[in-house]
Amino acid sequence: MRKLIVRSAEQLNGEVRIGGAKNAAVAIIPATVLARGCCVLENVPEICDTEQLFQMLSGMGAVVKKLCRTTVMIDTTELNTSVVPYDLAKSMRASYYFIGSLLGRFSSACVSMPGGCNFGVRPIDQHIKGFELLGAKIHIENGLIHADTDGMAGAHIYFDQVSVGATINVMLAAVKAKGLTILENVAKEPHIVDLANFLNSMGADVRGAGTDVIKIRGVDVMHGSDYAIIPDQIEAGTYMAAAAAVGGDVTVKNVIPKHLAPITVKLRESGAVITEGDDWVRVVRTGPLRKINLKTMPHPGFPTDMQPQMAAMLTRAEGTSIITEGVWDNRFRYTEQLVRMGAKITVDGKVAVIEGVKGLRGAPVNACDLRGGAAVIIAGLMAEGTTEIENTLYIERGYENVVEKFTAIGADIHYITLPDEEQPVQA
Ligand code: EPU
Repeated sequence: MRKLIVRSAEQLNGEVRIGGAKNAAVAIIPATVLARGCCVLENVPEICDTEQLFQMLSGMGAVVKKLCRTTVMIDTTELNTSVVPYDLAKSMRASYYFIGSLLGRFSSACVSMPGGCNFGVRPIDQHIKGFELLGAKIHIENGLIHADTDGMAGAHIYFDQVSVGATINVMLAAVKAKGLTILENVAKEPHIVDLANFLNSMGADVRGAGTDVIKIRGVDVMHGSDYAIIPDQIEAGTYMAAAAAVGGDVTVKNVIPKHLAPITVKLRESGAVITEGDDWVRVVRTGPLRKINLKTMPHPGFPTDMQPQMAAMLTRAEGTSIITEGVWDNRFRYTEQLVRMGAKITVDGKVAVIEGVKGLRGAPVNACDLRGGAAVIIAGLMAEGTTEIENTLYIERGYENVVEKFTAIGADIHYITLPDEEQPVQA
């Protein structure tokens, strides 16, 4: 087991290059099973979640070959089962995207109930509703989701709740359903558009992604494709927030500035000066950090996946900030870790009130989920002394080369490996 050791930083300065978007990659990789052929994916983030999906594909008979660090060839011609390896799938949320794509390929799928970060109850009723309206039968037994169909047909599906996962999963099935599918009240995140572009590059007919309504005309055959995944909006936002929190001058490269707009606006409000180029943003903060209020919402609102990093930053702002979580029921568990470091945060349901303090102190803390892990790194950089972070696996699931990237902008951060007897017992 490893711990991350983070020491106080006076400033962050330099350049950091952003990888491919995790939440696009984890949809696009399962989508490759729709093609009986070979796909070459570029800008694949080198994170545990993508590695795990490659292992699932290999276990199902696909050939997966890394052509370089971030380019991967996936040949699904010999895929021979619609059962996703249980042990690999159970700990990961995005493994359920194989339901949609395997229904499209084999008219059946068997996938573990999804794992993922714990933000309270994470229902999948909207996925099931979509599959059933397309003509699939779903039953859940012993922790497994079974999906079968005698043939899917296009349908008019109105989602009761805006859901990234349900939009993606139902798109993956609908591209092979006969006739026209209309999806209403869909998610509009950049990774939805990226998935639609990838599916169209494979021969699908998907229109309207990025708006509230997606129209899909089913096709019989899809082929392999070469495709570059978009840059990670949240990884970029995390380094931007770190620069604004600690202060200094950081250029974040390989980004799409438009995807960062909601984050940029809030960081400016808190005192950062941000300039943008075609594929970079520069964050400079030399003046004081100011309090802000923010509410997370589906895209184009402020992304929930940036909420913990912003909270970490605001622990040291002048005045009292209020954060309202508008997507998840319980996404403030990480605040307990910030409080251990001296932050003043009170949480009441979906609202956190953060009273800025003069200083934080390094402490032993936990990465209780992926973005909560990013939050304690940022807090560790702002705190006096040393912060020791346990449960780093959460961070590695979604941030590639986190030590190298923070080191490149002047942070003092490294891993230590614990001898066996010192490993904490997992609850
Ligand atoms: N919901 C339902 N029914 C459903 C599906 C969702 O009620 O069938 C509710 C959820 O309980 C939640 C809301 O709808 O309150 C939004 O959930 P959504 O389905 O959009 O989330 P997700 O697809 O499970 C993805 C990202 C999350 C990100 C959310 C919101 C992936 C693999 N995960 O989750 O990313 O927070 O969208 O943007 O794409 C992260 O990267 O740290 C992360 C957690």
